[in-house]
Formats: sequence, structure tokens, C-alpha cells
Amino acid sequence: TRRVTIRDLASAKQTGDRWPMLTAYDYLTARVFDEAGVPVLLVGDSAANVVYGYDTTVPVSVEELLPLVRGVVRGAQRALVVADLPFGSYQGSPQQALDTAVRFMKDGGAQAVKLEGGVRVAPQVELLTSAGIPVMAHIGLTPQSVNTLGGYRVQGRGEEAGHQLLEDAQALQDAGAFALVMEVVPADLAKKITHDLHIPTIGIGAGVECDAQVLVWQDMAGLRGAGQPAKFVKQYADLTAVLTDAVGRFASEVQAGTYPGAEHSYH
Ligand code: KIV
Ligand code: NA
Repeated sequence: TRRVTIRDLASAKQTGDRWPMLTAYDYLTARVFDEAGVPVLLVGDSAANVVYGYDTTVPVSVEELLPLVRGVVRGAQRALVVADLPFGSYQGSPQQALDTAVRFMKDGGAQAVKLEGGVRVAPQVELLTSAGIPVMAHIGLTPQSVNTLGGYRVQGRGEEAGHQLLEDAQALQDAGAFALVMEVVPADLAKKITHDLHIPTIGIGAGVECDAQVLVWQDMAGLRGAGQPAKFVKQYADLTAVLTDAVGRFASEVQAGTYPGAEHSYH
């Protein structure tokens, strides 16, 4: 099986075929999602939250994300693997972005990178693209900017904010981005941007008119930490309940002396 390429995603936009993207942070889940047919896997800097337990994505480092990318790349035979560039690793200059992206491509084995921001990071997108690195852009609620956004809230509401997002989207496409994530923006605005752009849009809390949809896999599968999931999350399973039950029965059987049984023992 051939690996999915950014050309396949461009074709899907032409034919109107929608596709799913999921985050992955390790070998086994990458294998499962890949074999289930998910064409694009994102090693998100959301690993900050769901792997490392930070409150925000701000503290996570390249050194913390790189090993996760290696695991996902080994697990995914067919899916295109996108590595998120963490906060502080690309905003300084296009050259800094290139240095970081090269690490994720060469040491990590990713086939593309993702970074957050609009017009301001267009020079980064341009340099990476011209260097042969496919770039996925990300606008709207950009969690690395939580401290300037003033919390996790809907973005692009109102005429001026909507205009800015349209401008950002256009600038990122012009700079060479192959796809655009839009996070928590009004569905009408996401629809307009999706129609205006020739590159695929990937929504998360951005309505059904995007070309693709992404969720953090633990959100999608109902593996919950503290706190309520966002409105845009649909839980397709209740892994928290499944695991809690499994752990509880394992613990009980150990305490009761019924595990391991004879069939689990070597004689
Ligand atoms: O880090 C992440 O998981 C993401 C997706 C939610 C788009 O950026
Ligand atoms: Na991210």
C-alpha cells in the first residue's frame, strides 16, 4: 500500500470527498487508526495535554514531541503523518521554522509539519514549502496563543474578526500551505473559507462544510481527564468506562487469587 500524499488530499477536494484526521501519539494507536483507514495522522502538540499532562500546549518541547513522531511513523503504513511544531520553535524567524521542521522530517520521519498562525507566519510557510516540506496551517482558536487570546473561545466572530480569518486563510494558501485547520470558528465563516480556498480545510468545531474533520483521539474515544469536553467533541466510545471496568476486574481477580488461572501459567 502506497502512502497518502498531499496530492491525494488535493484530489479529494476536487472530487468533494470528505476525510477524517485523528491525532496519534504512539505506535499502537497509529497502527489501529492507520488500519481503520484514517488517511492523515497528526502528532499534535496536544500531546502537551493528553500525554504529558500540562495545562496548555505552551510548555511542550521539540524534544518531548520528536519521540512520539517516531513511534507514530513506525505505526502508520499508509497514513500521511503530520508533526505539529511546538510553541517557540518557529515563530522567531523562517530560518528557525526551517531548522525545527527539518528535525521533525529527518529525525522524526514525518511527511509534513503543522504550525499555528495567520498572515504573520506566512513567511515561515513559504520558506518551508520552497524547501520541500509540506505545511499544514492552523487558524482560529490557536491554543499556543491562549495567553493572548484570553482563553479558549470561539474565534472569528463579528465582521472584523471574520475578515481577518479570511485574510489569514488566503495568505497561508498563497504561501503554499497544502491544507488549513480551522479550530472553533463559526460554521458559516468556515464554509465561506472552504469555498474560497482551493486547498482542503480541516475543521475542529468549525461546522460540517469543511473538507475534512479532525479530533484529538482521546476526545473522540471518550478517554477523559478532568473537565468537560468541548461542545464540538463527539464521543464515539467511552474508553474511560471500558478501562475503569477492566482495571477494576483485574484488581479484584488479583486480590481474590483468581488471576492468573492455570491457563495463564507455565507448567
Ligand atoms: O494539537 C492538536 O491536536 C491539534 C489538532 C486539534 C488540530 O492541533
Ligand atoms: Na496543535
